[in-house]
Amino acid sequence: MASYRRFMTISDEVMPTITHQRTARTRRYAMTAPQYFTVEYVINPWMDISTPVDPTLARSQWETLRQVYADLGHTVELVAPRPGLPDMVYAANGGFLIGDTAVVARFAYPQRAGEADAYAEWMTGLGYRPLRTQYVNEGQGDLLLVGSHLLAGHGFRTDRRAHAEIAALTGRTVTSLELVDPRFYHLDTALAVLDDSTIAYYPPAFSAEAQQRITELFPAAIEVSSADTYVLGLNVVSDNRNVVLPAAATGFAAQLRQAGFEPIGVDLSELLKGGGSVKCCTLELHP
Ligand code: ARG
Repeated sequence: MASYRRFMTISDEVMPTITHQRTARTRRYAMTAPQYFTVEYVINPWMDISTPVDPTLARSQWETLRQVYADLGHTVELVAPRPGLPDMVYAANGGFLIGDTAVVARFAYPQRAGEADAYAEWMTGLGYRPLRTQYVNEGQGDLLLVGSHLLAGHGFRTDRRAHAEIAALTGRTVTSLELVDPRFYHLDTALAVLDDSTIAYYPPAFSAEAQQRITELFPAAIEVSSADTYVLGLNVVSDNRNVVLPAAATGFAAQLRQAGFEPIGVDLSELLKGGGSVKCCTLELHP
């Protein structure tokens, strides 16, 4: 049998496998320090008033997150925390900002209602004229921008009727996605935006109809395991290349690396006691 010899060009031999190099886009975020953060009421299944929060640890974990963004070259605006509003640290819920449009949140629970005025004042201070919705909207907890398309969660917090209001106020196409598992009560606990066309999600958190919509819109979506989702692993912030995620979500970190992203794990165990993590603590000001 004739021996087989494969002819290679030099470039075939020396060329390493080129994994797609993703390019980060500089972002502008807002964060609210956990100065008054406690768990003193229960409005989601993660909260337990008998579990004490360590305020020093909460503060240092939050500072680490802020430092990660700064080291990546992103801008972080600070919102002044207010006493009596322990959940204000979850800045993502404060509203939705895009271009010169700022929509302020309308909270589902009375315990958080006061945050709307606090976030509205902060927006005014930055030169925005904050707009209000008639129906409940919990800001970027339930409103996630993918490219120019808005994904909007409903079922637990944001009222489905607010989706049309948000579409009208922002001029964006909005796709409504129904959440069905109370542990994943905000869209940002069950779906992560990784770049302008890539998402990761946990299918069981969504209704059958929403799952269908997601697979139509994002046939290459990354499916994340229960183990990673149960540590709020999908609650991430991406700049198109670097994905800041809860450190415990190691399986998802491996999936991200595989897809060419750069995962950066951050431990926010104290903030998890309130039912939030990386994304919840971060409000993006979209250009
Ligand atoms: N304790 C807060 C609440 O239940 C947590 C909010 C988390 N924020 C988020 N974007 N998922 O409203």
